[in-house]
Amino acid sequence: MSYFRENIEKVEGYMPGFQPAQKEVIKLNTNENPYPPSPLVLRVLARINTEQLRRYPDPIGSKFRLAAAEINGLEPEFIMCCNGGDDLLRMAFQAFCDENRPVAYPAPTYSLYPVLANVQNCPVLEIPFDEEFNLPAKLAGTNAALTIVCNPNAPTGSFISVDEIASLADEISGVLLIDEAYVDFAQQNCTRLVKDFDNVIILRSMSKGYSLAGMRFGYAIAQPEMIAGLMKVKDSYNVDAVAIEAATAAIKDQKYFKENVDKVKAERARLTEQLRKTGFNVPDSFSNFVLAQCENGGAAKIHEQLTKRNIYVRYFAYPKLDDKLRITVGTPEQDDILLAALKDILATEPSQL
Ligand SMILES: Cc1ncc(COP(=O)(O)O)c(C=O)c1O
Repeated sequence: MSYFRENIEKVEGYMPGFQPAQKEVIKLNTNENPYPPSPLVLRVLARINTEQLRRYPDPIGSKFRLAAAEINGLEPEFIMCCNGGDDLLRMAFQAFCDENRPVAYPAPTYSLYPVLANVQNCPVLEIPFDEEFNLPAKLAGTNAALTIVCNPNAPTGSFISVDEIASLADEISGVLLIDEAYVDFAQQNCTRLVKDFDNVIILRSMSKGYSLAGMRFGYAIAQPEMIAGLMKVKDSYNVDAVAIEAATAAIKDQKYFKENVDKVKAERARLTEQLRKTGFNVPDSFSNFVLAQCENGGAAKIHEQLTKRNIYVRYFAYPKLDDKLRITVGTPEQDDILLAALKDILATEPSQL
């Protein structure tokens, strides 16, 4: 006999990218930022006192809310703090979906969405992307309670224009959650849509552009009524006192943030070019990772060979992805080690390209 609900019994949990214990590895598998967070983060962490730890944190993280509102040109009521962007995704499924209220999203995309759908036991309407990863027209006609568009999309790195997403928000009757976890590395974002549409929620993460994946902090942007509704679903103290301090310091240091993001974008261009020269098909990425297609398959084998050399990239054995490797943009030094290893692997097994 199982103690679990039937859908939990059946669900395969989310499979996070491997976190190797040893430090001497090239880790390009979970889209972490290769550079440290702003030095102001360490400064505020050094000042944390025991009184802050003894007491419960501010339930709505007002400090961060104010800072994030200012940076996005909005009022604080448009912002809700989350324990990472994933916390907001869980809340959205709980708030909007059930057995009769489906979720819809273009696929392939972030593999956490179907896991959360199965936990919530809601129907999933996966609408396939075309080969260029354009927004599928059918997405507007699903009648889903929750539609998710990941933009830039993971793991493809592709980007859909803000105007196209605005049209989608206008056409659908349910909620549109725009997952902008990687938007720091793109040229545009959808912030302006929350002013025009009461059904839009934007997800932001502090894990990528702000180098705070270990801290677990993200936030939602939406109209105040939507934020107030989501607040009913959140854990009472979903962001901790230390994380509030760190995330606030990080988001306030826009100069450091922009320099950090610019370094990643410059290296993304170099990595893309070098991978193409090595023989991979690599579409332009608007994110902090690239998706490299191995022309004659072989992605699984190359992944295995890289892992043996302590170089970690991500391989997904899913349709449309199983001939590709998702590679996080590292430092130039890390990427050079990866590129040299790829050349070596392909030289010994040339049939793979
Ligand atoms: C597409 C996408 N959305 C959301 C997240 C959640 O990020 P976090 O919970 O680290 O803020 C991730 C994490 O990798 C992601 O890839």
